[in-house]
Amino acid sequence: MLNQDRISVMIDQETLEKRIDEIGKQISEDYAGKEIMMICVLKGSVMYMSQLAKSITVPVYMDFMVLSSYGNGTVSSGNVKIKKDFEENIIAKDVIIVEDIVDTGRTLSFLKQYLLDKGAGSVKITTMLDKPSRRVAQIDVDYVGFTIEDEFVVGYGLDYSQRYRNLPYIGIVET
Ligand code: IMP
Ligand code: MG
Repeated sequence: MLNQDRISVMIDQETLEKRIDEIGKQISEDYAGKEIMMICVLKGSVMYMSQLAKSITVPVYMDFMVLSSYGNGTVSSGNVKIKKDFEENIIAKDVIIVEDIVDTGRTLSFLKQYLLDKGAGSVKITTMLDKPSRRVAQIDVDYVGFTIEDEFVVGYGLDYSQRYRNLPYIGIVET
């Protein structure tokens, strides 16, 4: 039998999806007359990407990347490795990076520069959750769903040892 952790709800599904819908409408206004290349950072951002895209009314293209931070032991080196690159043409395109959560900011500061170097016309960032208290790398996040305290959260794509990604809300694993 699987041992189950106790999960308490931090942001319920209705509240979360209402906010995601607002962000989609805001993005649609800001990108009126343009097309958006949404780049989803797998795996954690998959649910946010899917939900957000449904609220965007301008034409959208989707691509997916897999990144991993590697370091020595507990201290992250800040190096980010691309495990799966984007596949669409992004030259001169308006890219929006779709993230689940911004923690240290290392992943995104790397990724934004990488996409600009690859020829993107513009790169903005949206994140479902923001944990600014843990920021190490300076990064501007353009569209934030919810700003949260420094707690480890799961659900709506976010995992704890690959589990709980399917929870339809944001929860905290009780320790
Ligand atoms: P960072 O901003 O480079 O530190 O990387 C953030 C990444 O770490 C996120 O995209 C998540 O995949 C993961 N992460 C950070 N905080 C949490 C959390 O509270 N729950 C689950 N994953 C997290
Ligand atoms: Mg992520």
